[in-house]
Amino acid sequence: MKKESVFIETYGCQMNEYDSDRIINALNATPTNVAENADIIIINTCAIREKADHKAVSAVGRYNKLKKNKPELIVGMSGCVAQLYGKKLLKDMPYLDFVLGPRGIPQIPKIIKDIRSENNHRPIETSMDVQDVFDITPYHKKDKVAGFVSIQQGCNKKCAYCIVPTTRGSEINRPINEIISESKYLVELGAKEITYIGQTVNSWKHNRLRFPSLLDNLQEIDGLERIRFTTSFPKDITSKMISSMKKNSKVCKQLHLPVQSGSNKILREMSRTYSIEWYKQRIEMLRDEIPDIALSTDIIIGFGSESEKDFQETMDLINLIEFDTVYSFKYSVRPGTPGEKMKYHVPDNKASKRLSILQERQKEITFKKNCDNLGKIIEVLIEGYSKQNRNDLYGRTTYNKVVNVKNINDSNIGKLINVKITEATQNSLIGEQV
Ligand code: SAH
Ligand code: F3S
Repeated sequence: MKKESVFIETYGCQMNEYDSDRIINALNATPTNVAENADIIIINTCAIREKADHKAVSAVGRYNKLKKNKPELIVGMSGCVAQLYGKKLLKDMPYLDFVLGPRGIPQIPKIIKDIRSENNHRPIETSMDVQDVFDITPYHKKDKVAGFVSIQQGCNKKCAYCIVPTTRGSEINRPINEIISESKYLVELGAKEITYIGQTVNSWKHNRLRFPSLLDNLQEIDGLERIRFTTSFPKDITSKMISSMKKNSKVCKQLHLPVQSGSNKILREMSRTYSIEWYKQRIEMLRDEIPDIALSTDIIIGFGSESEKDFQETMDLINLIEFDTVYSFKYSVRPGTPGEKMKYHVPDNKASKRLSILQERQKEITFKKNCDNLGKIIEVLIEGYSKQNRNDLYGRTTYNKVVNVKNINDSNIGKLINVKITEATQNSLIGEQV
């Protein structure tokens, strides 16, 4: 029988990208980049902020139009918006064929079969009570230099603003043997770098193993050259974790450590469980052991009772630490979260103003840090052709900086090469092979 072809539009985080690739494998379907050619269209959605979840709903409407010429086309919604609104989506969008939460991915073949065999059947699968959440591994492309492996699903923290524990459920850690075998499979397909993903990866534990031992084990995988992981939770940074990062040469010198706010009062309202002093001290420990480590963070502006003084404390923090990159967002109220019931509210225009002050300042810091690389020779793992110019290749440094390498042979794809940095821009570096 001919394989069905599936088109998936993915919104949101790397976990969603990973889940989209799991859906392809679960369906045993052929992925296509052209929606018009697909037998099944799935919108894999993100609910982290209100804007993201609006985008998801309008995408379904767009693809519904294709059904006019192809009545047998199936259009479904998966991911966090699907989990969050469930039945309501089927009611509001009579043309939507199914709704599938993140934990339901192994059920998708049955869903498609049922739709095809029963008239007007519109399945919904949003149960959280699923045993083998890691049962389906993703479809991995051959010769992709950098890949992802999930080590954890869901989240046990209860940050007051966050929808993730609702949509993805509580934390489930993947057994180490599965993590290693998927990693080895990726390496066989040509991967040189793997980013291990989960909501709070450094809280990973399985049986008696903890995250630092996981890193020690991953270091031993032959042919794997680089290890990254994201996202880490500040309270779960231990000295053991830092020593493991330091001693394992494959672990990149880079850490994403969301702080969310520079004010203790706001951190308490967010239920982040650490103080700003704790956060700064962990950064100090990291920089003592790995002096050139690159740091990035996430910040939410306008949460809870954030005053000008609280905002100033966030600015003080970004000026003090000088992160390489800051991902900053205006707070968006999410249904059912503790944040929704808070009585304080920062007016939107105030929050927007604060956000742009922070982003302008961070732009300067990022650019300054990029310029610090001028003239240096840095190792780059080449990933593919540069988007701007096919004669150039691009790759990343251990610090996770993108480097465009001028006039270089494409036999270098997948190789670690030394590059002299000749130019710095706001978002990347430019250099020549040496
Ligand atoms: N542990 C996860 C968190 C996912 S959400 C990870 O970092 O991968 C990613 C970021 O989105 C969070 O760190 C936070 O800064 C931001 N965010 C989460 N909920 C938000 C909300 N309601 N409004 C605005 N930003 C939010
Ligand atoms: Fe969300 Fe906090 Fe977990 S930001 S994903 S509840 S660590």
